[in-house]
Order: sequence, then C-alpha cells, then structure tokens
Amino acid sequence: MTSPISERLADVTSARESGRRKMDWAAQHMPICGALREDFEANQPFAGEIIGMAMHVEAKTAVLAELLAAGGAEVAITGCNPLSTHDDVSAALDAVDGVTSYAERGVDDEGYYDAIEAVIGHEPTITVDDGMDLVAAIHEDYPELIDTIVGGAEETTTGVHRLRAMDEDGQLEYPVFAVNDTPMKRLFDNVHGTGESSLASIAMTTNLSWAGKTVVVAGYGHCGKGVAKKASGQNADVVVTEVEPRRALEAHMEGYDVMPMAEAAAEGDVFITTTGNRDVIVREHFEAMQDGVLLANAGHFDVEVDLDALSDLAVDTYEAREGVQAYELDDGRRLNVLAEGRLVNLATPIALGHPVEVMDQSFGIQAVCVRELVENGDAYDAGVHEVPDRLDKEVAEIKLDAEGVAFDSLTETQAEYMDSWQHGT
Ligand code: NAI
Repeated sequence: MTSPISERLADVTSARESGRRKMDWAAQHMPICGALREDFEANQPFAGEIIGMAMHVEAKTAVLAELLAAGGAEVAITGCNPLSTHDDVSAALDAVDGVTSYAERGVDDEGYYDAIEAVIGHEPTITVDDGMDLVAAIHEDYPELIDTIVGGAEETTTGVHRLRAMDEDGQLEYPVFAVNDTPMKRLFDNVHGTGESSLASIAMTTNLSWAGKTVVVAGYGHCGKGVAKKASGQNADVVVTEVEPRRALEAHMEGYDVMPMAEAAAEGDVFITTTGNRDVIVREHFEAMQDGVLLANAGHFDVEVDLDALSDLAVDTYEAREGVQAYELDDGRRLNVLAEGRLVNLATPIALGHPVEVMDQSFGIQAVCVRELVENGDAYDAGVHEVPDRLDKEVAEIKLDAEGVAFDSLTETQAEYMDSWQHGT
C-alpha cells in the first residue's frame, strides 16, 4: 500500500517550505476560499466527515483541501493525473493537520491506482473528484463503502460525462454534484482558465511565439472557445475542427477557419485538442503534417492524440526539450508532442494549471457543494445532480464583494413583472 508522500521524499523539510510558499501565494489571491474559511473555521460544518479527494495536487487544490480540513474534516488526497502533482505542494499539504496526501508526480499506473486505493482506505464519507476515478474505484472495488457515503462532487467535463453514463446505466449509487456545469465554473475555468494556462504552458515549454502561427483547435466547446480566443489574441491564425454543427457554425461566425482535421493537419503549426474525445489526431493526420509542428492536448485524458500510431510511424524519438518529445518520421519531419499528450496546462514540467483567481471560483463551488452534502445530503437521491443555483449565486456574490463590485437587484415590481405572463402590449 502506498504511504503518504512525506515518507517518500528525500528532503521533506525543504519540499514542505517550498510547497507552503506556493500555497500561501495562492491563498492570498483566493478571496472566495478565504471568506468560506472564516465561516468554516467558526462553524466546523465538516466535523466527523472524511473527505477523499482525487484532483490535480498543486497549490490551488491544496488551498481547497486545507479549507475542508479547517472546517473539521479529515482529508485524504491524491492526484488525478500522473504528471500534474507538485511534490512540494503535496508534502506541504501532508503536513497540514487533518490532511494526508498520497500524491506524487511521475507515478506509473500501478502507483497511481495504489494512491487512489490509499485514499479509499480512509473510508471517505464524501468524495471530491476531477475525472471520476475515485467514484469509479469505489463502485468497482469497494461497494461496501457506498452505504456510508453521503455524496460527491465532480470537477470536470469528462468526469461529469462518465458519471452521467454511469447514472444512465443505473450504476451510480450515491449523489454527485456536477460542479463542472455551473456558470461560476464552466464559463470561467473551462473558457478563460484553459485558454490562458494552455497557451502559457506551451509558450513556456517551447520558448516559441504565437504570432504568425496557425493554431488548430480541435473542439469548439467551452475549453476550445477559450483556447481559440486567447490564441487569436496572441496574433495567431486560428483553425477550428468540430463534429457538432452548431459549434462549427459558432466558430465560423466568430471569424475562425473551420475545416475537417484531415485538411487542418496540413495547415497547422500548433495543434491543441480540447474535445474530451479519443482519436482526434491519428495516423492519417500525422502523415500530412509539416515538419516541426507542436502537438498538445488540453482535454482530460491522454487519448486525443494517438501516440501509439505516432510511435509506429516514427523512425526515431527523443526528448527535444524538457516536456517535449520529438517523433522523427522517415522523411525527416519532426512532430513534437508536449507532456506525453496529457493535459498540457497541468502536465508539462513547468505547468502551473489555471490562474489562481479562476480556481478560487471553481473550488468555492466545490466547498459549498461539500457543505450542502453535509447539511442536506438526504435530499439528494443517487445520481448526478445540478448544483443548486443558490449556491452558485452565493459564490458569485462573495467574489463580487471581494472585487468591490456592486450590482443591482430587482425591485418588487420588476420581480413580479418577470414572473407574470399577463402583461402584453
Ligand atoms: P465541451 O463538451 O463544452 O466541448 C467539447 C467539444 O468537442 C464539443 O463541442 C464537441 O462537439 C467537440 N468534439 C467532440 N469530439 C470531437 C472530434 N472528434 N473532433 C472535433 N471536435 C470534437 O467540453 P469542455 O468543457 O470544453 O471540455 C473538454 C475537455 O477538456 C474535457 O475532457 C474536460 O474534462 C477537459 N477540461 C480540461 C481542463 C484543463 O485544465 N485542461 C479544464 C476544463 C475541462
């Protein structure tokens, strides 16, 4: 069984200091989590709860874990991607009272799932997931725990997709909030967060410019919109590929070139997949690509770029830079894959994930969802649930207050007017 990270690091003291600094910096820029912390510390809403978490363990997530522990919970956490953990943050988190962290960067599949099992070994009463691996492991291997689980919260699109599929099959046996789907999460985190951090991560990893490049964005959903907009803002020409006609039309009306990947493959200098689907860039596309292209994925799993096919096609492969693997084809063309095709904004060696302010919103929603499960868990049947709008609004109001932004409220007459159907011309 995997042990907490503190037992595995050679120099745990300096790792903790470095991780603590990152957490303190993040916390300074997370007013929503800060406001909730004051409330949770005073009222201890999670006393007696055990919260199992599988998320990208870096500074912002650590602030969420610490917030839940400050509210009285015992927290056990691991990563949700083998390359996104910051070991120093994981060590600092492990030193927090009430928190055990099993997350370690660069673990193999066995180490990854051992750590998930170690979290489950704490017998969580609430799960907080990013990608649904914890929910899946509990249902598959530890169904005896389900009776005592109050519920869960899921962070990302792919996790919510998987949960809905599980729910439709009648297999999801406790309630889970689709945190991803709230306006306060999706309209900011997926769009701006993924856009900004993916581009920053690619630029920092490669030291290459966006200006004058053709950037192919696969998928024009929330993440794709953010990536396309920010790439365009950096003076790149943006090409969008889509499978959904309305999304393709939206991209076209936004002024982007829309075309099938089979055509885009020959056009692009940089490819960024954001579909949450598999096999988006495959052999026939690699065959058409120019020398020197960059291939990056911002979708949850590493299945969007078919690296097996690329390996088969390549006559040589080598590390071109840290975080960049070059695949050389027999005619000398080099296709460069970032972060092994895993989430580029979280898995390159220098990746920092989304900007802090964005994650403050997402994690504010996570925290109020956990509170809702503790306070009103009985009101939710097994299955996927939308986050109640009042919780989303609560978090938006805390943020506006922190930003010093005042806004209007409806008068009684306006509210009555909006609710009525009798007023016509
Ligand atoms: P979404 O559902 O809003 O958008 C996905 C889009 O991809 C849809 O418009 C869909 O029609 C399109 N698509 C599907 N298959 C395609 C294909 N073969 N070719 C072209 N387009 C295709 O989902 P969202 O919120 O944009 O999330 C996308 C992925 O990004 C998910 O895996 C999600 O978990 C992940 N994600 C990653 C983040 C990060 O930090 N990198 C942050 C948030 C989400």
